[in-house]
Amino acid sequence: MQRDIYIAGSGLTRFGELWEKSLRDLMDEAIDAALRSSELDVLEIDLVVVANMLAEITNDQAGLGALASSLLPHHPPAVRVESACGSGALALHTACAFLESGRAKTVLVLGAEKMTDAPTDVVSQALMGAADSELDAPAGLTFPGIFGLIAQRYMYEYGLTREQLSIVSSVHHSHAAENTFAQFRQGLTPEAVSASPLVSDPLRLFDCSPISDGAAACILSTEHKSSVRLCASQIASDTLSITERPTIVSFPATREAMDKALLEADIERSDIQAVETHDCFSIAAIINMEDLGFAKEGKGVKIYEDLYTGQTPLFVNMSGGLKACGHPVAVTGIKQVIDMGKCLKRENVQYGLTHNFGGAAASCGIHILENLAV
Ligand code: COA
Repeated sequence: MQRDIYIAGSGLTRFGELWEKSLRDLMDEAIDAALRSSELDVLEIDLVVVANMLAEITNDQAGLGALASSLLPHHPPAVRVESACGSGALALHTACAFLESGRAKTVLVLGAEKMTDAPTDVVSQALMGAADSELDAPAGLTFPGIFGLIAQRYMYEYGLTREQLSIVSSVHHSHAAENTFAQFRQGLTPEAVSASPLVSDPLRLFDCSPISDGAAACILSTEHKSSVRLCASQIASDTLSITERPTIVSFPATREAMDKALLEADIERSDIQAVETHDCFSIAAIINMEDLGFAKEGKGVKIYEDLYTGQTPLFVNMSGGLKACGHPVAVTGIKQVIDMGKCLKRENVQYGLTHNFGGAAASCGIHILENLAV
């Protein structure tokens, strides 16, 4: 990166069905927590970057930049970015561009999403904005439908079984039990995943990330040093429609962003000891392990089998991931970085990676964090 960028503060709300809180309340709570965790004066924030996907539909609210800015006493300039479920990583990347160019020294990156006030069918249709409205939506697809197709194809090509797939969510739920911010903290056996109601064959209820409310605020600074530094911020894109891809069992945007991120951080893949990956559906987590290069093609589930039996040194989705921690869509990429910062300190490891995508990995953002205290 052109300059050293530090995580100078961070704050989260709990994720879940937070009916008693408005979008503004969620933003306010996350900002307040981030400022309290930092040593800087609020007036030092010279820019706000807001990530949000759905507020026009679920909250009748646009102008998210100005709304966020109005929550700070000096009303700093603000921009809003959107890249569907990958909006959070894009917001961090945008902030890095401002910081690296010297246009800003301290940036508040804020993700906020309030999805549960709208009925599931409205949210499902709104989320389809992350697919191609001409090529994908007319087939009657929803996102569980798209990932159901991906899972069908993956099982056909690699022989993944229903029982193996069920291990993924079980691992994520066991990790969320320790996370007080998570939406679902109860344990889940693989058998319970396999027996949960069918949503989009072969995907069942417990293969799916939920519909969630939540906010995350991360203060990035070139001025205020801390023990956690960002050493790579990379984004990549693919076709929006899955109909225009040669395969649907691998996501090239992940591969490209990962290659660029390792190059930027100047480290090897084997230096990464902790990962927060975008498990919007259980099948995605398996494919991600392969695209990130931690497993060979068709073998991604092995990482989860090893996590289930405690046989891998890799820390994966210790927050509970999207499945169990929750997935307020545009918040996820920012929340991943905050949770990774905590994971690096708790486990005393040096490098961690966050992987966030929008749509069926039509856009992807990867951040690598370094724990300077190791
Ligand atoms: N995991 C675990 N439990 C879930 C859940 C999930 N994904 N979704 C809902 N539940 C629980 C609810 O808490 C509720 O429990 P309760 O009866 O004890 O209160 C119960 O299941 C029914 O919830 P409900 O809200 O009626 O479910 P739904 O049928 O409306 O929605 C899904 C379920 C799977 C369709 C919805 O969660 C969904 O669309 N998820 C995917 C979101 C998505 O596509 N995100 C973008 C990814 S790219």
